Amino acid sequence: MFYLTYRPNKLEEIDNSNVQKTIESILKSKKLPHAFLFVGQKGTGKTSAARIFAKSINCLENSFAGKGTSVEPCNTCKNCHSIDKSSSSDVVEMDAASHRGIDEVRALIKESSLLPMHCDYRVFIIDEAHMITNDAFNALLKTLEEPPETVIFILATTNMEKVPKTIQSRCVIINFKKAKKDDVVKMLKRVSKAENLEIEPKLLELIANNSEESFRDAAKLLEELVIQKKLTFKEGETYLGILGKEHLLEVLHKKDLKETLTWIEEFSTAGGNVKYLIEQILEELRILLLAKNGIRKEEREPLNVNFSLIELSRLIKLFQEAYNNLKNTPVEIIPLEIAVVDFYNSRKN
Ligand SMILES: Nc1ncnc2c1ncn2[C@@H]1O[C@H](COP(=O)(O)OP(=O)(O)OP(=O)(O)O)[C@@H](O)[C@H]1O
Ligand SMILES: [Mg+2]
Ligand SMILES: [Zn+2]
Repeated sequence: MFYLTYRPNKLEEIDNSNVQKTIESILKSKKLPHAFLFVGQKGTGKTSAARIFAKSINCLENSFAGKGTSVEPCNTCKNCHSIDKSSSSDVVEMDAASHRGIDEVRALIKESSLLPMHCDYRVFIIDEAHMITNDAFNALLKTLEEPPETVIFILATTNMEKVPKTIQSRCVIINFKKAKKDDVVKMLKRVSKAENLEIEPKLLELIANNSEESFRDAAKLLEELVIQKKLTFKEGETYLGILGKEHLLEVLHKKDLKETLTWIEEFSTAGGNVKYLIEQILEELRILLLAKNGIRKEEREPLNVNFSLIELSRLIKLFQEAYNNLKNTPVEIIPLEIAVVDFYNSRKN
């Protein structure tokens, strides 16, 4: 799968340029902090960056081993290899979603007192750190403040508010934010090149716009388009439900039921993806709802339609329902058609 095959493997491949620079300068400073908190939305590179960090400081062929000036991991030495394969006893990954209790954290603390076996540093990567219970966080406090010289903790979370302030203040916080469009396009170009794909640059931008600001979602979407062989901008647009001509919501606003159902039929015949279409409609409806209340979302112009507040709320409910029903229908297009029919019926009353 693209998103696993092209997981960043070294600093240079972290396409989130701010994060890449921050981590590189920390590595170059040589005075390493002993606890980090990586904060950011799903699929923005927290886990990948934590592994790269662990490789960099333990690599046997870079400046940490006294060879040259680069802090990049070589990805070929024994240490880099074992960290990549998750077989290093010195780099421990723990998923706090399933290991959140006091006993598990105590075991981790005990383990952190052991010296590294093959590496210079032991690195503990704690994913979903916000899931750790309060007791367990308290137990961790002292170790986080003064861990053994050779230990580094990297806590990763999508939800910083749920990490106690006392923990936050003992960590160097690196904010991965949401994936920026330009950075996502950079990642998509990297993947396309490695896969020898001929893709219109405009399509890469379209994918970036439809990836919920996540590198992982973007890589998955690119792969889906490759599998479906939709590699021109036009095909991609159709597939994603952003038909070049008129948006479904515009048709719904201006035209009658027959024309709207015809639009849907054409969309379906052209091989459009219903799930993406509904996701996109819901996103547009939300923008319209905000705009109706005087709130503008940056970068996005609302569609040129004029639904009342009541209609907007009804549409959101109907399309939300259609989305949920996608899982249970033998004919994929039916929930969407029903949503539209229900909307016209409610308009008559
Ligand atoms: N900064 C990035 N540069 C390039 N690709 C990235 C980046 N971040 C994520 N990806 C892509 O997304 C995939 C998932 O990344 P990763 O597991 O590091 O994200 P995460 O922030 O830990 O997500 P989650 O919160 O869901 O665990 C990677 O395998 C890679 O394909
Ligand atoms: Mg992760
Ligand atoms: Zn190495």
